Amino acid sequence: MINWYPGHMTKARRAMEEDLKLVDMILEIRDARVPRSSLNPDIAELGRNKRRILLLNKADLADAALTAEWISALSSESVTVLSADARSLASVKAVRRQMDQASAEKAEKDKRRGIVSRPVRIMVVGIPNVGKSTLINSLAGRASAKTGDKPGVTRGNQWIRLGKTVELLDTPGILWPKFEDPAVGMHLALIGSINDDILPVEELASDGIALLAQRYPQALAAKYGELPTQPYEALVQIAEKNQLRKKGGDPDTEKAAARFLDDLRKGRLGALTLEDPSV
Ligand code: G4P
Repeated sequence: MINWYPGHMTKARRAMEEDLKLVDMILEIRDARVPRSSLNPDIAELGRNKRRILLLNKADLADAALTAEWISALSSESVTVLSADARSLASVKAVRRQMDQASAEKAEKDKRRGIVSRPVRIMVVGIPNVGKSTLINSLAGRASAKTGDKPGVTRGNQWIRLGKTVELLDTPGILWPKFEDPAVGMHLALIGSINDDILPVEELASDGIALLAQRYPQALAAKYGELPTQPYEALVQIAEKNQLRKKGGDPDTEKAAARFLDDLRKGRLGALTLEDPSV
């Protein structure tokens, strides 16, 4: 269903390998609604020996109980996991505190070794649309223009200094998720991380309705009433409930699909998480 580009991926992987040599730690951002699908497999593999702050972002749109489960499943000695809403000051402050702590630990270590300490260097990574620019802009305290992150657009490494103690490396290129797994493509499309123009909307919405019928039946029922189990019939009901009709008066299932996806993505079905840590 979705194309991926091995050439770009190889290039991005090499660039990441080089970039990793420059930094002390990684700030990885994922989407709290799909913590598994929004992982970049290269970060997981190449960055496994680096200390990491892992941010489950857009937590305002995710199921809080499952976010807590994900936090405990992903935390380890070398990985500190936080949930965040990159647009909120409280989250930005929490991330900053983690960075300052890492910086203080590094300064202490350098002192013991008798070397002059430099700022802690942190590489910021995340697949497109997880909120990387929002977070960097909030951290840096400026509304810098969005650059790159679109296929075909490249940009150079950008170092961003935060006070005297932290330097962020904003990485160039696009980090792809694991598109070989069809569930990954579906989950990312459902949360709106993939351009809708290239997607069969009714099929995607049907998959989404089926997934929510398993995971959050009460959220679906509260919004649209009890839905038929057959996904197409469900779209017909959503069309009727919202008075979405084609010219001749038939229910417009394509518009119903778009409406469902919009409701899901904007949180109008409630705060939902599409993946469990245990599976
Ligand atoms: P990227 O650099 O990783 O590609 O992502 P970016 O920061 O551009 O964020 C993608 C979209 O997600 C933006 O919305 C942004 O406002 C939104 N966003 C980022 N962090 C959060 C969060 O924690 N919670 C929620 N609910 N949204 C978040 P947009 O619609 O593209 O733009 P706009 O609405 O900000 O204009």
